[in-house]
Amino acid sequence: MGKQARAIVDLSLKDLVKDLNKAYCDEWLAYYLYWYMAQIVSGRAYEDISEFLMKIAKDELEHATELADLIVKLGDMPPANPMELEKNANNPYLMPPKNTADINRIIRIVTEAEAGAIEVYNKIAKKTLGKDNVTYQLITHILSEEVTHEEMFENLMER
Ligand SMILES: [Fe+2]
Ligand SMILES: [Fe+2]
Repeated sequence: MGKQARAIVDLSLKDLVKDLNKAYCDEWLAYYLYWYMAQIVSGRAYEDISEFLMKIAKDELEHATELADLIVKLGDMPPANPMELEKNANNPYLMPPKNTADINRIIRIVTEAEAGAIEVYNKIAKKTLGKDNVTYQLITHILSEEVTHEEMFENLMER
């Protein structure tokens, strides 16, 4: 991002980049968690759940990619060391259930993670509204996908 592009950001760049880096860490944790649960899930309807988890995992990886791109454009860097991911995340890593056939628990874990993401992105959207239109646009795009994820899994729960 050029000088003028940065100059129009009417916020503390340091603060903004910190928020974006934390969200980036959340995305990697979500990606890993969903991807992992997609591999180990068993029991009734495991194929459907696995497919859903993989689909959402891919979205989370895409979110991490989009955030990394923005962080770099803003003149900063996402963490280089994966050990930093959980340390810097907004929310702690949610452990997958020991019982791999516990699909209800898997669904609850995903809805909890999505609720956390919605809260984080809603906060960043409020902070950037009218202050940094580029970030606002990306964040509301991600937010709308997190809302869809939550809904997909909430619907599974009601089944
Ligand atoms: Fe995400
Ligand atoms: Fe999500």
